[in-house]
Amino acid sequence: MRLPVLAAMVATALAGCDRPGEHAAPPAPPTAASVAPFDFLPDAVLLITCGTDGMLEACNCAGTLEGGLSRRSGLFAAYRAAFARTFALDAGDFSWLDAADLRNEYLLRAYRFVDYDAVAFGVGEMSATPAQLARQMRHAPLPYLAGTVSPADRSVRWPAARIVRRQWGDVQLAVLSYLPKQSLLFAPAETVEALAFQSDDDFAAQAVALRREGCALIVVCQGDDETAENLASWCPADVIVRARTSRSSPAVRTAAGGARIVQAGGWDVVGALAMRIEDGKVTRVQWRLEPVDTRWSVDRRALSVFQAYAHLAARKALDAERGASVRHVAPTECAKCHPAQFAAWRASPHARARAALAAGGRADDEDCLACHVGGFRAPGGFVSAAQSPARQGVECQDCHRFNADEHRAADFQRRPADEKVCTLCHTPLIDPGFRYDARAAKARCPKR
Ligand code: HEC
Ligand code: HEC
Ligand code: HEC
Ligand code: HEC
Repeated sequence: MRLPVLAAMVATALAGCDRPGEHAAPPAPPTAASVAPFDFLPDAVLLITCGTDGMLEACNCAGTLEGGLSRRSGLFAAYRAAFARTFALDAGDFSWLDAADLRNEYLLRAYRFVDYDAVAFGVGEMSATPAQLARQMRHAPLPYLAGTVSPADRSVRWPAARIVRRQWGDVQLAVLSYLPKQSLLFAPAETVEALAFQSDDDFAAQAVALRREGCALIVVCQGDDETAENLASWCPADVIVRARTSRSSPAVRTAAGGARIVQAGGWDVVGALAMRIEDGKVTRVQWRLEPVDTRWSVDRRALSVFQAYAHLAARKALDAERGASVRHVAPTECAKCHPAQFAAWRASPHARARAALAAGGRADDEDCLACHVGGFRAPGGFVSAAQSPARQGVECQDCHRFNADEHRAADFQRRPADEKVCTLCHTPLIDPGFRYDARAAKARCPKR
């Protein structure tokens, strides 16, 4: 990840705030705000996002957040409450620039709560290899839509579909994704070589067959405007979702073959397409763009995924300043030379932080563990309760970010356990009342 972004995250984590902390409360799905009706009663509503570009939330500040996944989830919940036949589609490019980055794992973990019906792979995802994508998919099981691409190596487990279908009464919807090789001009050669592509002929034949079965056809086009227009000329789609974009357009274009082309993108907007569907054909549409703003309620489950990620990202930035990561050892190792500090620590709530999760039955939930155990996923730190039984709390090196063997050298520059360290966990969202001076007086170790 890029350092300026990490630095900005740490900086925003320090921003003040005044909302009461609620993160220990049992997480609940968002409540449904009201949704404006369409001009006609739709047979189905398609919600479309694209080009999220790794943006879990706009910032780690405590004020009202706009554009993040937690509000997006609130918007989806509102639409689902208003229209029972809602199909939520992510048209791709959800990945951060570096598609193999840890951020994507957490983005997809939050997508579980946003409640998608299909999550399509776009060009952006193809900077990762199929094996890397397969790992992300296992980490966050979702209805992935790979469309025309699949791993060339058939032994790669690939839990992604070519088609996603939905049926409500006599209304049938089929969603396909068209990702041709020529859209991957800038993808690493390694990825392109590792992929197999469905031919245009097979893709068209599949579309025709679905039509014959009575499905209304939604086709995501992972390409530019020209590719979308061209696709409309040989594929019998009702609606083409022009993907590969982080821009949205309020206009509905009608392609030569009659297909409607719509485009929604960016982390702060959702497109909503109301459809009248008669005899398996979309006969009428209304398209509108919904800003993801404070009108929609926050999904605290998605927010807690983000908090866990923000912790890891801020920690990485802090270690980058020092130029090395921390190798965690058991507090009993430090105790050999610092018995008084060890005794004080052992009596503190930090030493028992994982136990606080057990009360809510979340002692193994990695969205919570990040700040409630010693060195979560860091060298020598907590991996799982079975593998790291001695890492059950916030430990010495979570605050003293250096290694035991280096800190006694005469020229060692020690970073004190300062505000930046505490706010890795006591973030403005989690602990809005946190003031370093007052709390450090309570939490600091006794003097030597
Ligand atoms: C072998 C003995 C030994 C071990 C093990 C050890 N330390 Fe130290 N530590 C020292 C000594 C000696 C100093 C004083 C260094 C100095 O003042 O130059 C010190 C200094 C410190 C200080 C700064 C105190 C000050 O007065 O500036 C901190 C904080 C600290 N140690 C934390 C730790 C932590 C955390 C661990 C375990 C990861 C650890 N130490 C392991 C011997 C040890
Ligand atoms: C970004 C770091 C972070 C994450 C992620 C996190 N917590 Fe916390 N948690 C804290 C901090 C800091 C405190 C102490 C400050 C406070 O009480 O507000 C705390 C306190 C708590 C407490 C109260 C403990 C007590 O004894 O009063 C509970 C319960 C809790 N967390 C549960 C959870 C659960 C459940 C999750 C996962 C959904 C979670 N935490 C995720 C940092 C985190
Ligand atoms: C919640 C954060 C936190 C944890 C956990 C923690 N400390 Fe500290 N400790 C502090 C703070 C804050 C200070 C004062 C600022 C500083 O020196 O960095 C401090 C100071 C110290 C000092 C220097 C004392 C002096 O003379 O000023 C030592 C030694 C030390 N800690 C050792 C440890 C050891 C060993 C552990 C684990 C058994 C531990 N600490 C766990 C926050 C923590
Ligand atoms: C790795 C994450 C982490 C770091 C770093 C951390 N804390 Fe905490 N802190 C927690 C958690 C989690 C709890 C809640 C533990 C519980 O109650 O079970 C907590 C609880 C506390 C409490 C007691 C509850 C309260 O809110 O009064 C104080 C005081 C506190 N922390 C101060 C600090 C200070 C000061 C620092 C920095 C020197 C710091 N913490 C660093 C995670 C952290």
